[in-house]
Amino acid sequence: MNNRIAVVPGSFDPPTLGHLDVIRRAASLYDQLHVLVVHNPGKEAMLPLAQRLTLLEQSVADAGIEGDIVVASWSMGLLVDYAVDVDAGVLVKGIRSQVDVAYETPMAIVNRHLAHVETVFLLPDPAHAMVSSSLVRQVAALGGDVSPFVPAPVARFLDTGAREN
Ligand code: PNS
Repeated sequence: MNNRIAVVPGSFDPPTLGHLDVIRRAASLYDQLHVLVVHNPGKEAMLPLAQRLTLLEQSVADAGIEGDIVVASWSMGLLVDYAVDVDAGVLVKGIRSQVDVAYETPMAIVNRHLAHVETVFLLPDPAHAMVSSSLVRQVAALGGDVSPFVPAPVARFLDTGAREN
């Protein structure tokens, strides 16, 4: 496994500015970054996987993040199967709070046992420390303005109600 290749996995339902911050910083740390929309069997999603992938591609392009970045989706099995396929030795996750630590720790341990893949945690920029996809979903569902929390392509998509079409 190549420790210069990393995967940033997540549900990205929808992508937030916090996600983009982690992606930008991870892109500067690794030679190649795979940003991976993963089906989370434990969560019912607001947006279909294909829509999340499109919004993520648009958001990464819109943010002008430099580097070798691949945006992809994965619903075929374990996250580490994708990592092995692309020879990535590292998973990168953002950690906002002790709740995130408790959620991510068992997954990091299991993923290391499954495929010798290490997980690296990045602390958030304080500007984005309170932003979460679940809050964005709630604000959007109740008709609020999500533009302070999400990349422009996501704000446009949620604003126009395109997800209903
Ligand atoms: O954004 P999320 O929902 O916190 O991301 C969690 C995700 C999708 C990365 C996690 O649920 C995951 O890795 N799912 C893939 C299935 C898998 O590999 N499970 C075993 C990991 S311990």
